[in-house]
Amino acid sequence: MRTLSESSIEWEGKRVFCRVDFNVPLTPAGEVADDERIVQALPTLRYLLERNAKLVVASHLGRPKGKVRKQFSLEPVAVRLQQLLGNEIVFAEDCVGDGIAHVTGQLKNGQILLLENLRFHSGEEKGDEGFARQLAQQIDVYVGDAFGAAHRSHASVTGLVPFVEDSFAGLLMTKEVQALSRITRKPQTPFVAVLGGAKVSDKLGVLKRLIQKVDVLMIGGAMAYTFLRAQGQQVGSSRVEDDLLDVAKNILETAAARGVQLLLPVDHVAAESFDENAPHRVVGINGFEANEMGLDIGPQTQKNYQDALNNAGTVFWNGPMGVFEWDVFSHGTMAVMDAVANSAAFTVVGGGDSVAALKKGGAQDKIGHVSTGGGAGLEFLETGTLPGLEILGFNRNA
Ligand code: 3PG
Repeated sequence: MRTLSESSIEWEGKRVFCRVDFNVPLTPAGEVADDERIVQALPTLRYLLERNAKLVVASHLGRPKGKVRKQFSLEPVAVRLQQLLGNEIVFAEDCVGDGIAHVTGQLKNGQILLLENLRFHSGEEKGDEGFARQLAQQIDVYVGDAFGAAHRSHASVTGLVPFVEDSFAGLLMTKEVQALSRITRKPQTPFVAVLGGAKVSDKLGVLKRLIQKVDVLMIGGAMAYTFLRAQGQQVGSSRVEDDLLDVAKNILETAAARGVQLLLPVDHVAAESFDENAPHRVVGINGFEANEMGLDIGPQTQKNYQDALNNAGTVFWNGPMGVFEWDVFSHGTMAVMDAVANSAAFTVVGGGDSVAALKKGGAQDKIGHVSTGGGAGLEFLETGTLPGLEILGFNRNA
């Protein structure tokens, strides 16, 4: 992969399009609620600014579906970026058009322009060539640093690269690929993966792949109930994806055939409604009443998962063990977080909820690599590559 740190070009005066992932949560008042992705992009931006490039920074935010929707504007991000970087940010009210090409053409060395949300134009997600050409207007070099969006073949991720002189992976992109490659290539064993979250369907690809690679797979969150149901357990009114029961059975069989230890919850925190204040109790295997649903893993499961994590050589964790946003159902996720943070293994954590749990526990610094990618990280583990990396010369077999 062509990386920024190994590039030997003269950056001074170059007009650089830097694709970042500033898809950050906003508060109801429209301020940046979590600036982690902005903070992680700073090294690349500083690298280019220090070398006197003319910087055009672009991102998506949310899913406005090709329409201008003010609640998805990147303006609050411009405010936060300016505070973090300490440089004045010129904010453009669009991302393409003659006006933007003019502003780009007028940029001075070391100046930074943040474009408005790329997804206000339908051409972005369609990977439209005309839109990509418009983005490339007045641009000399492309720097891809949006690891979180590198699984999308969108105009700004892959499409515009052929229309610029040169292209490189940014510092964050490179760091992400190095950490995740350590897992996909030669993980130190035992390799333990912890997957959680609401839906099996969101993690299907990575489940099928990881089951071929890991020594231990632990499943939590609502997705565990599809597996428990597939085993014939009674799970009350817990969320089950009926259309995936056969797939779940297949994964359980593959695990058994490969000698993978697949751990599922053996107890649960159950409630009658999906409500923060709902009365709740711990139930064991087949212990659910018909109207009860599991909203967290129980204490014995926490212990089982912690024991497996304590012995790991490599850990990958993505997804909460329960409805961790509500304190009362957060204990399972926080127990896993604690065990991952205190593990001597090489640890990688991805996905917004798991990273939020790390922050809640103040444990980010104890993790080998905290990924800014959710879906992108999962797809990289599944396929060993991503479109946004391949376009920058990444070779999964190299
Ligand atoms: C993410 O938050 O996972 C990335 O920014 C990609 O966003 P998307 O799923 O809307 O493409």
